[in-house]
Amino acid sequence: ATASEPYDLVVIGGGPGGYVAAIKAAQLGLKTVCIEKRGALGGTCLNVGCIPSKAMLNNSHIYHQTTHDLKNRGIDVGDVKLNLPAMLAAKTASVKSLTGGIETYLFKKNGVDYIKGTASFESPTKINVALNEGGETQVEAKNVIIATGSEVTPFPGIEIDEKRIVSSTGALDLQEVPKKMVVIGGGIIGLELGSVWSRLGAEVTVVEYLGAVGAGMDGEVGKQFQKILAKQGFKFKLNTKVISADVEGETVKVKVDAAKGGKEETLEADVVLVAIGRRPVTTGLGLENIGVETDKRGRIIIDDQFNTSAKGVKCIGDVTFGPMLAHKAEEEGIAAVEFIKNGHGHVNYDAIPSVVYTHPEVAWVGKNEEELKAAGIKYKIGKYPFAANSRAKTNQDAEGFVKFIVEKDTDQVLGVHILGPAAGELIASGVLAMEYKASAEDIARTCHAHPTLSEAFKEAAMAAYDKPINF
Ligand code: FAD
Ligand code: NAI
Repeated sequence: ATASEPYDLVVIGGGPGGYVAAIKAAQLGLKTVCIEKRGALGGTCLNVGCIPSKAMLNNSHIYHQTTHDLKNRGIDVGDVKLNLPAMLAAKTASVKSLTGGIETYLFKKNGVDYIKGTASFESPTKINVALNEGGETQVEAKNVIIATGSEVTPFPGIEIDEKRIVSSTGALDLQEVPKKMVVIGGGIIGLELGSVWSRLGAEVTVVEYLGAVGAGMDGEVGKQFQKILAKQGFKFKLNTKVISADVEGETVKVKVDAAKGGKEETLEADVVLVAIGRRPVTTGLGLENIGVETDKRGRIIIDDQFNTSAKGVKCIGDVTFGPMLAHKAEEEGIAAVEFIKNGHGHVNYDAIPSVVYTHPEVAWVGKNEEELKAAGIKYKIGKYPFAANSRAKTNQDAEGFVKFIVEKDTDQVLGVHILGPAAGELIASGVLAMEYKASAEDIARTCHAHPTLSEAFKEAAMAAYDKPINF
């Protein structure tokens, strides 16, 4: 394209928000270009987030199961050895095939143009691109979607070198299993990547500022989850403040302090993972040239139709409000494009699932007990343990439970919280229940196959509206 042929839509950023928006726009007949500076599509999620972390979680789980659990299943194996370079290579191969597939298959098939470079606004309709291969170009746009995502929040005074002191990106590519690993932040990244290295042999200590781990999960689930992780070998220091982390030769010394008074302590580690959250990316975008504002946390301010304050410029994904999740960014990408093309679009923010891909997994949708109490909403609970589910028992994988929270008078599902095997897959039914405003009785009267883990889901719904059968 040249400056003389304006695009119907320019998407800035090729992550799950941006690349999905670009494909949807092309499918709806808009002439579309996606500008991405990374050199590969898929954003944080495919390159250094969801996908490589799940590759490492899956393969480290298989390794751990082989070394710790196969004997109990009547499988004797010989000399089991970790081949870390090969495990990292398998991860890289998964990432490459997915990111490459967007460029060579999905974009081509749908007719999305792709420019490798860094975009910045000259005006709401003129975007300059510094090309990765050198030189510059300019594209003209009738509409723009900003989908520039997020990056690691730095810890003031702690320098990330991605070798000894790492962010999630470095933690996905350690060339040796650390003997000791300190994780700063007991949120999703800390627990997932802590699990990876713990399973491969590291002694993992999580230092968390708050009194609970699991960033926002239901309190009862979080407590049980923490106990299970502790049994797996995690050490936790809750209500603890990190003061500093300094590399001294081959070790990192991490000074911590009890948050509410108490004594200072120095932890030693080979590797420290900083995982205290992520922040929006807007530097260099030239937002000042188009008068688009950000809030105190650096998020681009939008209205309920994804409009920024600049005419024709919308924004989606991690760089604006809401949970920093790939599927949330994707939903917004599609809805934003539908607003442009059709004048209406839809994202149900009450029904966005969260999943922690540890073992067991944790997954939830809707409200938790703490939120309902704070809002003064009356509710009932229905719980069912996997220990009473035939499939979980026969799989010898029966930790955890399904918990339904339903409105007291109507039984309408307000939240579903699952700790257990395949929780991340099971939660899809909870999301559907929320989307269709189902009651616990609707689910309890729906036939679920036997023997499956999904029967625990059904029986928890039965427990919420009446009584379960098998417990
Ligand atoms: P991003 O994926 O961050 O993409 C934005 C893209 O814009 C980037 O590629 C960037 O290079 C590009 N860009 C920025 N500025 C410019 C510019 N000026 N010009 C051109 N290009 C630009 N979420 C889940 O739902 N499930 C998970 O299992 C999960 N696991 C994760 C694990 C880790 C370790 C991490 C770090 C994150 C994980 N996430 C997960 C979160 C998920 O990665 C993000 O929510 C998601 O990537 C957000 O999508 P996005 O499109 O908004 O932004
Ligand atoms: P997070 O917000 O999940 O957790 C950060 C944790 O660090 C919180 O528990 C917080 O209390 C703690 N913390 C903050 N400051 C601290 C300090 N100074 N000292 C000690 N603890 C401190 O952020 P995280 O884990 O970095 O993940 C970033 C984002 O990536 C999240 O928003 C998450 O949604 C997304 N993500 C999603 C995944 C998934 O869906 N499975 C997997 C990994 C990341």
